[in-house]
Amino acid sequence: MTVILTIASLKGGVGKTTIAENLGIALGRMGRRVLLVDADITTSGLSTLLGLVDRQPNLHDLLSGKGDPAKTVYDAYGIKVMPSGPSLSGFVRSDPTKLSKIVDGMRSNFDVIIIDTPPGLTKYNLTPLRMADVVLGVTTQDPISVESAAKLEEVAQSMNLKLTGFIVNRVRKGTMFKKLKLLNKAQIQGRLKSKIIAGIPEDEAVLEAATFRRPIVFYKPKSKFTESVRTLANRIGV
Ligand SMILES: Nc1ncnc2c1ncn2[C@@H]1O[C@H](COP(=O)(O)OP(=O)(O)OP(=O)(O)O)[C@@H](O)[C@H]1O
Ligand SMILES: [Mg+2]
Repeated sequence: MTVILTIASLKGGVGKTTIAENLGIALGRMGRRVLLVDADITTSGLSTLLGLVDRQPNLHDLLSGKGDPAKTVYDAYGIKVMPSGPSLSGFVRSDPTKLSKIVDGMRSNFDVIIIDTPPGLTKYNLTPLRMADVVLGVTTQDPISVESAAKLEEVAQSMNLKLTGFIVNRVRKGTMFKKLKLLNKAQIQGRLKSKIIAGIPEDEAVLEAATFRRPIVFYKPKSKFTESVRTLANRIGV
């Protein structure tokens, strides 16, 4: 059975795209047939990271009723990617509600379809949230981010979303943890009803890899980041 896994957060910049990219590639390396969908059609950050933002056709085309989904997937690091496009006009003509049918039609070719979403709660992430078999929330240890995560739980409950759990990203220990007044795992778990599935450390390799447009799991296979993404890939059981 194909699993549609949507990565979400109401707060921006917590690491959704970084996690979607590396989790997808890690699952691919574990032998899963993975499709990564860049549903952040405003910024197309995932497509940029993977060097696929100029591919034609792209998700903007599909969402405006043009093109064939089967011909809108591209190879990257052992998995398939459905990229979004670079242009403002492409974004403007996109109807985000079309995503559900497009992705449904791709189910039979994949074990897991991972959808990266924009932050917030708008028409641009409602469809990916509703169509998911598994929603994974992302938060950091920052109290504001944790409050947003709690809000996502409220939304999930009222909309009957399949929020399975949270990933705590950019985990810091020691001096910076104290200095930044961050919350530890027990404190975050105390605020949230859903389970914390994995912690991913703050790792300089992430920025380095992004600069070189290389996924961290490839660029730094022995980094703490890669290790924890592999643990996450094993835990989600797809
Ligand atoms: N574990 C990490 N360690 C260090 N830097 C990280 C880590 N995870 C993400 N980052 C950095 O944080 C920034 C935001 O990450 P990312 O773009 O993945 O977040 P996002 O939730 O997708 O943002 P948006 O909501 O804008 O789509 C990026 O510069 C990324 O390189
Ligand atoms: Mg993003």
